[in-house]
Amino acid sequence: MDIIYFNGEFLPFENATISVYDRGFLFGDGVYEVIPVFDGKPFEIKAHLERLKKSLEAVQIDLPLSNQRWIEICAELIQKNNLKESTFTLYLHVTRGSEHCRRHTISKDMKPTVIVTCMKGQFFTEEERYKGFKAITLEDSRRRDCYIKEISLLPSVLLANKAISSGALEAILIRDGYVTEGAVSNVFIVRNNEIFTPALSNYILGGITRQVTLKVARDINIPFYEQLIAEKMLRDADEVWITASSREICPIVQLDEKLVGTGKMGPVAKKVIEAYEDYKLTVRDD
Ligand code: PDD
Repeated sequence: MDIIYFNGEFLPFENATISVYDRGFLFGDGVYEVIPVFDGKPFEIKAHLERLKKSLEAVQIDLPLSNQRWIEICAELIQKNNLKESTFTLYLHVTRGSEHCRRHTISKDMKPTVIVTCMKGQFFTEEERYKGFKAITLEDSRRRDCYIKEISLLPSVLLANKAISSGALEAILIRDGYVTEGAVSNVFIVRNNEIFTPALSNYILGGITRQVTLKVARDINIPFYEQLIAEKMLRDADEVWITASSREICPIVQLDEKLVGTGKMGPVAKKVIEAYEDYKLTVRDD
């Protein structure tokens, strides 16, 4: 995974140098995407590029490359790194660029810095996912515009780290008494065999895995609702899952100190994970 794409060139990562005045470095002024790749094939790449476009628009950075070019770069990178059979993630990173000073205001003539790398990701085996994971709840300390996939992630870093250091996979975040999302994932719950997930808003990222999870739930006729989820509803849920590109669908079987449902992966998670795996195969055959 040593070869990266950096501002128009493919090169070993150690040969890429960034200006100390790059606004990504100075201000966290940029956006990113993480695209899962299964057996060498990027999954839902168009949806990820669409979201990248929305993030860029939201922070007023011009689109540096066309969709076609992003797709070509990803394919070339997979080839150059010999990853045609592998499962990993593509990381796309765009900052506003640099000028020879540090100032908050935005100059018109800056050229975005563009980086694409291949990264291992955090994929779990079927066995691990079936066994389930622990999550903790934390107050959502992030700012309001969580729908933008921006690179300034300090609150998320601290929240995710708190989860890991308390032996959990994820922190499920609560804002004003309602579930928003995980520090690095979206959240689903199941009650009486129906699925609930927080509705899209400024407070959550519109996850691509969330979108696919809802699609496959619809395909297999499991009712779902996108709505507000009060903290109590989370705590009383029969099942809790988190979703993200590299983690896919992860059942949470312990929330804080309490077991979720029976403390094992629930029947609805099992059906949806199977449908998700089937969907991955159909898309791969395209
Ligand atoms: N994060 N919400 C947040 C806050 C996230 O950071 C992520 C993913 C998601 C899930 O989005 P998707 O299904 O499109 O991956 C939701 C990634 C993977 C990351 O930052 O590394």
